[in-house]
Amino acid sequence: MMIEVGELTREVGATAARAIEDELDWEHLPHVHAFAFERITLNKADRNGWDANVVLRDGQAMRMTVALDPDRMGYTNATFDTDGTENGRTVCRIAPGEGDCCTMHLRFFVPDRPGLDKPAVGKFYSDMWTRLIDEDEPKMIHRTRALKEGASLHKQRRQVTLADGSVCNVPLVCPHQGLPFDCEPDSVGVMTCPWHGYRFDPRTGECLSGQIKGWRQAG
Ligand code: FES
Ligand SMILES: [Fe+2]
Repeated sequence: MMIEVGELTREVGATAARAIEDELDWEHLPHVHAFAFERITLNKADRNGWDANVVLRDGQAMRMTVALDPDRMGYTNATFDTDGTENGRTVCRIAPGEGDCCTMHLRFFVPDRPGLDKPAVGKFYSDMWTRLIDEDEPKMIHRTRALKEGASLHKQRRQVTLADGSVCNVPLVCPHQGLPFDCEPDSVGVMTCPWHGYRFDPRTGECLSGQIKGWRQAG
């Protein structure tokens, strides 16, 4: 039986739609939340949630599932041991605020067991989700801007210098989701976007990791 061990209420500077979009975005976990996640392998995903195998930073393997509420104003995020036993569950409801903000209310559940230190486990979950949302909030705010500014944002360029001294024009925002393309070419001239880890060739704009087309290089 799962019992409630704690809760967290958190104001966020983005709409509920952005908070839901972020929760559906399984790919960002090992990049934006590198403190917690080593890697993620998707089992399945659709517009209502996803199911993936994750490996935590400490090497622990788990299955994680996200299921949106039918009204798309909340979700349940559950984790399972490799034997299929549910080991934790976070239930989130989101209340819209004025303008670009919302309030997330999260409740934390774990399996009941003798000697369970509820306050300590509750604090663990609350601290972890506080950090996760701290890391997600800038992403949600950047996404809001990307959606408002659209194509004009994608046209802006900056220069980067490769190891051989040559200079390339690269976009200010990533062609994937319009988030800041804040990375530099590595020693072999590959740029890895910090948000989802897609890799790009700054000379051609090609997405080397293959998920998307990349950007069109002018001239
Ligand atoms: S925004 Fe997703 S890989 Fe760059
Ligand atoms: Fe996140």
